[in-house]
Amino acid sequence: MTFTFGKNFRIHVFGESHGEGIGVVVEGVPPGLPIDEKMIQQELDKRRPGSSQLVSSRSEKDQVSIRSGVFNGKSTGAPVTLTIPNMDVDSTHYEKIRHTPRPGHADYTARIKFNQYNDYRGGGTFSGRMTAAFVMAGALALEILREQGVNVLAHVVQLGKVKADQEVSSYEISKNVYQNLVRCADVDSIEKMKKEIAQAKADGDSVGGIIECRVIGVPVGLGEPLFDSVESTISHAIFSIPGVKGIEFGSGFRGSSRRGSENNDSLIVVDGSVGWSKNDAGGILGGISNGEPIVFRVAVKPTPSISAPQHTVDLNEMKEVSIVTRGRHDPSIAPRAVPVIEALAAVVMVDLLMRKKSTMHDIRNHN
Ligand SMILES: Cc1cc2nc3c(=O)[nH]c(=O)nc-3n(C[C@H](O)[C@H](O)[C@H](O)COP(=O)(O)O)c2cc1C
Repeated sequence: MTFTFGKNFRIHVFGESHGEGIGVVVEGVPPGLPIDEKMIQQELDKRRPGSSQLVSSRSEKDQVSIRSGVFNGKSTGAPVTLTIPNMDVDSTHYEKIRHTPRPGHADYTARIKFNQYNDYRGGGTFSGRMTAAFVMAGALALEILREQGVNVLAHVVQLGKVKADQEVSSYEISKNVYQNLVRCADVDSIEKMKKEIAQAKADGDSVGGIIECRVIGVPVGLGEPLFDSVESTISHAIFSIPGVKGIEFGSGFRGSSRRGSENNDSLIVVDGSVGWSKNDAGGILGGISNGEPIVFRVAVKPTPSISAPQHTVDLNEMKEVSIVTRGRHDPSIAPRAVPVIEALAAVVMVDLLMRKKSTMHDIRNHN
């Protein structure tokens, strides 16, 4: 079984956290795209748990193999299949907590939905590990976007209670974000965020966070009216990331307490073309891209598996018990979600670009 997202650029994800491995089949990759293991590996390495105390101690190399769709370093136009094996697997703790679902995790809902046949080891298909497949597909999408002059940048703007002190330029995001483990582009906030995670971990606890993503260089006119608006397709993809609990575009929730006169972006003339006085719309009007960067923010909850004791039910005994979650868990998901959000934003953009190109409007080249 695969889990599928997209229409013209489709990704099919498969695997489990503690099974043989995970992978993705990508349909719609145009022929002739340069693809090699190195470019995919570069993206995977941004997501991989490291050796720092800020991330899980699971030490996966995430070594990608290209299984189909690539010949002589270029895509053939056939589906591209990418896999990574699960190497550093330790399922012992999951046997012990098999009948005591972790609060905040999918253990209980998965057990009921799949009648206890679900692979519960490491969270099975509900594991953050599945997002490595998103990142592999995203590596191809990012390459397609690069050729179109579109760039995707994400960064952590809040970790626990620590908010990034200042607005940063897109240049600062691309320069700083993968140079520090909290994936924050505001260099003055990095140490405070690291402390926030370290303190939570020392308390046997975890913290959530907010990630901002910008898609730059998007042409006017992407997105389909009503059900496949830019907002709905991005949200659909981003809510596939385990632990994501909210999303806002442009001024988002802040905009709801403003007056229209404050919230509206004015149309202006810039070098003979239409431009915008500011970008509170987050680059989207009527579900269609308006030429400004698409800007959205994603709320990620605190990691559910924590080592502090938590209350749950022993489902065999039907009695309330206290559990302590062991194993290797991230004290915060937010930094690790940054390349995953970039990857899925890229997948959505390629899908929308391909859909726009396939409409009559563009085939007949009317403006
Ligand atoms: C990159 C990434 C890493 C994650 N790591 C962990 C982890 O180490 N421990 C954990 O309990 N949850 C982790 N999660 C979150 C759970 O998978 C998620 O909370 C769970 O599936 C329940 O889904 P929900 O939070 O969307 O309701 C991770 C999520 C992501 C995206």
